[in-house]
Amino acid sequence: MKKIMMLLAMAAMTISAMADEGMWIPMLLGRNEADMQKAGMRITAKDIYDINHASLKDAILLFNQGCTGEYVSDKGLFLTNHHCGYSYITMHSTVEHDYLTNGFWAMSRDEEIPCPGLTATRLVRMEDVTAQVLEGVSNETAEIERADIIERNIKKITERAVEGTHYKAIIKPFYYGNQYFMYINEVFTDVRLVGAPPSNIGKFGGDTDNWMWPRHTGDFSMFRVYADQDNKPAGYSKDNRPYKPLKHLEISLDGVQEGDFTFVFGYPGTTQRYVTSDAVELAANIENPVRIDLRTIRLKHYNKAMNQSPAQRLKYASKVASLANGWKKWQGETQGINRLKGVEKKKEFEQQFQQWAKDKPQYYNVLQQLHEAYEQLRIFEVELTYFSEAVRASDLMLRANNYRQLANEDDELKVIGLVNRLKDENKKFFADFDQHSVVDRAIFVETFLYMWQAGYAPYLNDKTADKATVQKKLEKIYDESLLTNEKKLNAFLDNYSAKSVKKLKADPAVALFDQAFTQTFEAQKLAIYRRSAQDIQRLMRIYVKGMMEMQPDVNFFPDANLTLRVAYGHVEGFRPRDGVYYKPYSTLQGIIEKENPDIYDYVVEDKLKSLNALKDFGPYGITININDSTVEETPDGYIVRYNRKVIKEMPVAFIATNHTTGGNSGSPVLNADGRLIGINFDRCWEGTMSDLLFDPDYCRNISLDIRYCLFIIDKFAEAKHLVDEMTLVSSK
Ligand code: ARG
Ligand code: GLU
Repeated sequence: MKKIMMLLAMAAMTISAMADEGMWIPMLLGRNEADMQKAGMRITAKDIYDINHASLKDAILLFNQGCTGEYVSDKGLFLTNHHCGYSYITMHSTVEHDYLTNGFWAMSRDEEIPCPGLTATRLVRMEDVTAQVLEGVSNETAEIERADIIERNIKKITERAVEGTHYKAIIKPFYYGNQYFMYINEVFTDVRLVGAPPSNIGKFGGDTDNWMWPRHTGDFSMFRVYADQDNKPAGYSKDNRPYKPLKHLEISLDGVQEGDFTFVFGYPGTTQRYVTSDAVELAANIENPVRIDLRTIRLKHYNKAMNQSPAQRLKYASKVASLANGWKKWQGETQGINRLKGVEKKKEFEQQFQQWAKDKPQYYNVLQQLHEAYEQLRIFEVELTYFSEAVRASDLMLRANNYRQLANEDDELKVIGLVNRLKDENKKFFADFDQHSVVDRAIFVETFLYMWQAGYAPYLNDKTADKATVQKKLEKIYDESLLTNEKKLNAFLDNYSAKSVKKLKADPAVALFDQAFTQTFEAQKLAIYRRSAQDIQRLMRIYVKGMMEMQPDVNFFPDANLTLRVAYGHVEGFRPRDGVYYKPYSTLQGIIEKENPDIYDYVVEDKLKSLNALKDFGPYGITININDSTVEETPDGYIVRYNRKVIKEMPVAFIATNHTTGGNSGSPVLNADGRLIGINFDRCWEGTMSDLLFDPDYCRNISLDIRYCLFIIDKFAEAKHLVDEMTLVSSK
């Protein structure tokens, strides 16, 4: 009896993918096809990925190296998130032409704004190249040699694959190097900004609502890809023409209902689904708390400054968006891991693995070795966290790093180049020094102080070190450094020579950065770190292979690695905590409810309010018929009155159980027929642990309802010409 119980318990605890979990490889989607169709899909795996015919994959693009986009017209027009286009919208914004605040809409092709540096990559095809990549590698090959062989093989294979074409090839490891796939890509470089809603739509709710449900953010922006006369990628030229994609997505106006099948097709960046309990503990309970605290300090000062003037808001907007994004996600992640007892769950699985591996020499000590490697790695990882989140927090220290490099540079030509670069940098830094230095100084002092209190900046100790003394010392460093004195610094750079090195090295800010740097990257520590990281790499390869042998019937999805994937699930609400149920969709009414004219992120445009008041939603709103009856008692009996009430709603966002992560931003959310119904832009906060641990009760992706996007373009921005380019489909 006991044995049966144990077996049952083991079956229940397997690490196999649970319903809705997984980010699948398009080329291998045949393995999921039956499951997807059972879940409601009406198209085939080949409709999604095919190399012989145009398929949905041809409508998907990698936006730079971190977001996804999808073509919605045969003239290269594509959609992505507002927060993905954010830096391009800010780049073209000034206080006079503030596209970030007011939005931007190109009313004709020649108003579209080129975005130098922005790329849109299309996957041409992918291929399993495991055998070629591992040629010459055996189980006995030492790790360093293995890496060398693989690197050489990869170079050979990729060069051969794209010879004589304009394509680019890239090979990525899967399952920790148990498998390799090659991606042949076409990279477009003439990409232009076409449209973006004002921030109070595109970023409605700002960082307060970020990662949260219910959500009302109109998180989209539009770009267009241009190509040469042959429809091939080319650098910017006014002679380029709109690119004609092999496929663009049809847009469904039918919307979504709870329970509907959906899939997300895009470029998830990183997940760590198979790591051990040590890795989960390190991320959730050791690193996250430090990162969160240090960012709390920085955000406090930036936010204060942003509320002081429009110029300061623009200056810090992009930086704060990215700082706050991680800051909030890590809080959700740590809470989620601990609520689910993530570390304990991993340990339970590790026990099962150990039990299974006990008579398998290639596996039986892999977990113990992984544990030992993590013990080593952790020491350095934590220091590295302090280095990136505290030491590198202030502009003073980022600049000190540059001056340290200058001091260490012997090559005369390079010195001249560096000096010129630093002079340019100074112009920017000192342009608003009076305001900026208040923020930067506070951040510098407080982050270092935090690190010192945690014992990670021993070089700040004095014989009688107490907090006040160290704080004074830091303030003095900021105030007395040459780097914060415009006149002296410029004079110093104007007369820079080999003799200046000594003075530079003695500068208190440069010296402090040097101490922090030297301590963190001390040679011996670094060597241990590299070795443990390599060990982990190798051991994880073995561990994951073992896991797959232990559960031969499970379809394991490979961790996200910024390659094209399909995730599928269905529209569903959830219960974030006791007593609360979240419905799966939000409406414009919620925007009106959240309105607060005093808070930048909650301002609602008059035009949006009037469209709402008039229920002027065009063909994008929904009409709900409610048959209501009232019963009245009279001396003669009962009178029943039937009232037909018609409610008009404008849907804004919806949630579903698709497994997504950073990089999936901007990904198309498609319905059972493969038509566009939404744009993925976030996850629900209570489920952000899904990079490490997926829980179908809590993990939801958040998508913008495509109808809200169309409504904003058409009714709000009056840029109907853009909607006219698209292919809208309605079954009603
Ligand atoms: N949380 C989303 C993502 O991870 C959106 C981030 C941008 N928005 C913001 N308010 N910072 O990318
Ligand atoms: N907003 C994220 C991104 O930029 C997507 C949300 C997530 O992490 O799932 O990719």
